[in-house]
Amino acid sequence: MYSDLFEQRNMYLDQILGERRSHRTFTSEYPPEDEIRRILHAGLLAPFAAAAVGTSHDYFRRFFVIGRGSKAMNTMAPLALAQVQRMGDGLEKEMAKNPAVREKAAAFAQRLAMIRKAGIVPGVGTAPFYIVVAERRGFPPVSLQSLAHCMENMWLKATALGLGFQLVSITSQLSDDPAFCEVLGISPGVWDLMGCAVGYPADELSPSIRPPVNDVTCWLE
Ligand SMILES: Cc1cc2nc3c(=O)[nH]c(=O)nc-3n(C[C@H](O)[C@H](O)[C@H](O)COP(=O)(O)O)c2cc1C
Repeated sequence: MYSDLFEQRNMYLDQILGERRSHRTFTSEYPPEDEIRRILHAGLLAPFAAAAVGTSHDYFRRFFVIGRGSKAMNTMAPLALAQVQRMGDGLEKEMAKNPAVREKAAAFAQRLAMIRKAGIVPGVGTAPFYIVVAERRGFPPVSLQSLAHCMENMWLKATALGLGFQLVSITSQLSDDPAFCEVLGISPGVWDLMGCAVGYPADELSPSIRPPVNDVTCWLE
């Protein structure tokens, strides 16, 4: 009886884990706000670094939901693009000086150049909702790891709801940007940020393909 129940729970969980994909194109339809709230609730259930942030009375995790075409989005999108430009310039300088960086960062630099050329940061205004999650910086500084757990919970919940989800990792580079933080109503440098885009997926993606566990696992004696 119990084993049947656990088998069933695992069947659904494995299905959601396998179906979780990065969606990068979305339809124009807005998911209901209640579904977005359910995604945020899943984020709240994620683990957090209690020892790092535990003593603050002010809750250490915040969510900001920015709709496509909103006033906030119209301010944030150019700020995200400006950050891509700054990163691209910095990386180009570093690559010119350092052959090791040149080799390692070539693909990423190309990606930044493509975004600059398009003038649109994927996920910032390209889906019905751009969601920014803020986690107060604590000690030791582990808020980005904590945000990754939060994002994964949100991603799995979005998948279970049949919604598409895209990580927008440039968001973390905007944590110290005064203008970006002003739109969110938070102080720059106090919180770490991570972002994602959510909406109905425009394309159906196949389940994740990964190597067999045995090919990448070593049991040590
Ligand atoms: C730390 C991290 C940052 C990522 N940043 C982005 C991003 O900014 N934009 C994006 O479209 N995907 C981003 N991704 C998604 C990965 O590209 C994606 O998970 C990977 O290609 C595997 O594809 P899948 O998610 O469909 O399984 C990021 C993933 C991780 C773990």
